[in-house]
Amino acid sequence: MEKLKNTNELETNKQLDFINILKSKYEDEYKKTGVRKTYYIQTFGCQMNSRDSEKISGILKRIGYVETDTEDADFVLYNTCTVRENANNRVYGRLGYVGRLKKSRPGMLVALCGCMMQESTAVEKIKASYPFVDIIFGTHNIFKLAELIKTRLDNEEIGTKHSDRMVIDLWKDTDMIVENLPNDRKYSFKAGVNIVFGCNNYCSYCIVPYVRGRERSRNLEDILEEVKALASEGVKEIMLLGQNVNSYGKNLDKPLTFAKLLEEIEKIEGIERIRFMTSHPKDLSQDLIDVMGRSKKICNHLHLPLQSGSTRLLKIMNRRYTKEAYLDLVERIKKAVPDISLTTDIIVGFPGETEEDFLETLDVVKRVGFDSAFTFLYSKRTGTPAANMDNQVDEKVAKDRFDRLLTAVQESSSKSLGRYENTVQDVLVEEVNSQDGSLLTGRLSNNMLVHFPGNQSLIGSIIPVYLKESKGFYYIGSQA
Ligand code: 5AD
Ligand code: SF4
Repeated sequence: MEKLKNTNELETNKQLDFINILKSKYEDEYKKTGVRKTYYIQTFGCQMNSRDSEKISGILKRIGYVETDTEDADFVLYNTCTVRENANNRVYGRLGYVGRLKKSRPGMLVALCGCMMQESTAVEKIKASYPFVDIIFGTHNIFKLAELIKTRLDNEEIGTKHSDRMVIDLWKDTDMIVENLPNDRKYSFKAGVNIVFGCNNYCSYCIVPYVRGRERSRNLEDILEEVKALASEGVKEIMLLGQNVNSYGKNLDKPLTFAKLLEEIEKIEGIERIRFMTSHPKDLSQDLIDVMGRSKKICNHLHLPLQSGSTRLLKIMNRRYTKEAYLDLVERIKKAVPDISLTTDIIVGFPGETEEDFLETLDVVKRVGFDSAFTFLYSKRTGTPAANMDNQVDEKVAKDRFDRLLTAVQESSSKSLGRYENTVQDVLVEEVNSQDGSLLTGRLSNNMLVHFPGNQSLIGSIIPVYLKESKGFYYIGSQA
């Protein structure tokens, strides 16, 4: 293990060298032109991708790029998602647009990275239909970005044929976790912190284990060091990130549980709120429930993907829990944290789903009383076991169930959403309201939004707010 760590440190140093080479090249260009190079990054998909984009931004800013908010930039990057088919289609749409833009901007670079790039069919399509793309990399080697930019620029300098200039660097899997590279943070007061990468669960519908590799946890010391540094910079809320945070620590040299990690983080002064995402019901331990019950800092929110309420279907999905086990878990959580806000993910139209299976899902929705649910139509992902099942559900039937599920979720959440009306709650103030500049927007511990009049100087602080009126998914409030 020590050896692996050293290898990773060597990699960090190697990449810092590439960053410095580009930095001095771009600094020289800046001295001549007086203009900094710009970059634009569009992120698709989940929080894991958003965090990866922050790391990409960190490297680019260190090189000397300045971020812009349109694709009319020197370097355009798409950090892609492939969890459902429509995520792929959106990327092709953007590529059509940026290809036309690139014709009028000859020096422009275009890069693609993220989950969709881990699929060979997508990469083949890009090579054939979008040859103007300059760099393609995946989910395992983001830390190599400076090296890849340098290779692409060198290709041009040494006169490589245009059709051969595209730099493609994709890794199927890795054990490597490269720490201590430049880093960027979207917010100064809240931050995502990776704790576990990849996924070993192989739910039969899901592409993630194939594109993000096998599960590997970060060392406890590295996580604590990062959180302490964030706290010293003024960060108040952290979101611990992993495809399945509950399996944190299993593959470490000194195995550790997620509950224990939370207890360690709780001790860090300055951190006032701890969130985490995502929890797999099969791995959520009683220890964790107890820690959540005791903790003053862990937020009042648990995202607990259900996927289906049918035990029969859950088995075929390879979820490894039953409807009863899920309901029992919910009961125990509600007992330990009476005010907990539960949210979930549900898929409808999984192969072989019958009306009876679907009614079981509706039953769980009614019984749990989720505050909100992300509902998805099953999307066939090539390479997953479910894609080869021959009992795919008719599109119209699936759509009808989707609409009924949405109604059930709305009915169930409307009962609980307004429960803080006429109370005072702590709110982390996040930004000026995008619709009305006289209002601020913040979040309750349970992640719900509150809009209230106030001064910008409050952004980043946690203050008591009186919740005057519930508007469904948000409150209107006033400073208490
Ligand atoms: N089709 C539809 N939804 C899916 N998800 C994952 N794979 C698929 C798929 N093939 C959903 C799951 C997961 C969420 C992030 O995306 O509900 O929890
Ligand atoms: Fe996909 Fe299942 Fe892993 Fe979640 S736990 S990322 S749904 S395989």
